[in-house]
Amino acid sequence: MTRDRAALSVSVAALLWASAAAVAIAQPRAGDAGAPDAGVEAAASPEPEPPAPEEPSQPAAEPEPEPAPEPAPEPAPAGHATSAAVSALAQERGGRVYRRFCASCHGRLGDGLGPAARFLRVAPRDFTKGVYKWRTTETGALPTDADLIRTVRRGAPGTPMPSWEGRLSMADIYSVVQYIKTFSPDFAELPRPVALPMPASVPRFDAPTVQRGRMMYVLLRCWTCHGMDGRGNGPASATLVDDDGNRVVAYDFTQGQMRSGTRPIDVYRTFTTGVSGTPMPSYVEAIDVGRDGYTDLRAYAASFSPAEVEALRRFIAQMPTTEALAARPEPERLAWSADRRWALVAYVLSLSGRGAFAEYLLGDPYVTR
Ligand code: HEC
Ligand code: HEC
Repeated sequence: MTRDRAALSVSVAALLWASAAAVAIAQPRAGDAGAPDAGVEAAASPEPEPPAPEEPSQPAAEPEPEPAPEPAPEPAPAGHATSAAVSALAQERGGRVYRRFCASCHGRLGDGLGPAARFLRVAPRDFTKGVYKWRTTETGALPTDADLIRTVRRGAPGTPMPSWEGRLSMADIYSVVQYIKTFSPDFAELPRPVALPMPASVPRFDAPTVQRGRMMYVLLRCWTCHGMDGRGNGPASATLVDDDGNRVVAYDFTQGQMRSGTRPIDVYRTFTTGVSGTPMPSYVEAIDVGRDGYTDLRAYAASFSPAEVEALRRFIAQMPTTEALAARPEPERLAWSADRRWALVAYVLSLSGRGAFAEYLLGDPYVTR
């Protein structure tokens, strides 16, 4: 959990004390959550910045490729760096990185109107609005630094937004993130964004989980946009526009890649926090609705076969009421809603029809395609 903070502190120290070009940051691997990262911790001693919000721990099962660790720069002596000085330095450096690598698409003014923008299928983000899609924070809230860093490192697969991992040092990525935050006054004016709790590990997905997820997918009406087969062609999908009035498509899950990442934790995060600025809602609360929330199944009968509506009815019948659920002890209640979310994740991933999920798909009596 302290890994990202450590990396950030290292990069801050780097900005202050190392020569700009020579800096590269020792990056612990994402996979070895339990492994000692003493080297990084040691280098990260004084923290000139307020602690960076932490990225939720990622599932240990799926390590990402990381650049080879390189020696970290000397830590900054305590008391020398003020937060403002750090930000100024980061922003100065970030500005250079930005003009060189980002402005062609996102525009020198951060308005998303760079010279390349009009040739792109997906509009580059307009940073002046302060609206970000991929966050660990609530819908409509600003992203944390860790969210922005994750996006810049990984890019947005399936869109023109490249991955900068390995192309920019961590210090450059940290700096450019500080810089893009200056395009919107919100970052200075609004309270510091808080990450919602995210699970630390991924449960095992089995066929019943996928099946439960399918029920949730139907009940929560994900299919109205994403389509029952996940191709993004649900009945409501033709009319979707984003906050700027641009036409958007509900994501096609069968493509096998997602903009904010394909690991189970990425999908969990995306539909838990929603995709701000787009019609994709947040399901933070809808998940915790009990059987009394689903009394009228007539709307489903129009789109699903009697056998499916019957299966849905049985699924709903074994849910607790919303009140009973809310009255449960907190750990139990949280476990219940985490189970629902993971089931949805399992189902959404199963729609890619690839890898391990394909077999569950074939065993699913309801999928018709
Ligand atoms: C080739 C064009 C291109 C370049 C170069 C580019 N981007 Fe992007 N970027 C995009 C597009 C397109 C999107 C929107 C993707 C979407 O909405 O699905 C985007 C989205 C983003 C987002 C939005 C994340 C969110 O949660 O909404 C961030 C942050 C970002 N880019 C940062 C950068 C930074 C920093 C650089 C330079 C290091 C950069 N981009 C370079 C095209 C580009
Ligand atoms: C009102 C229409 C609508 C509904 C209902 C809806 N979505 Fe979405 N969803 C979208 C749109 C539009 C996008 C693409 C956002 C963008 O442009 O990046 C999206 C994106 C996503 C993504 C992100 C894929 C990526 O690229 O990272 C996931 C995951 C997702 N939806 C899951 C769900 C789940 C699960 C449900 C039901 C619980 C659901 N959606 C319900 C419209 C919808």
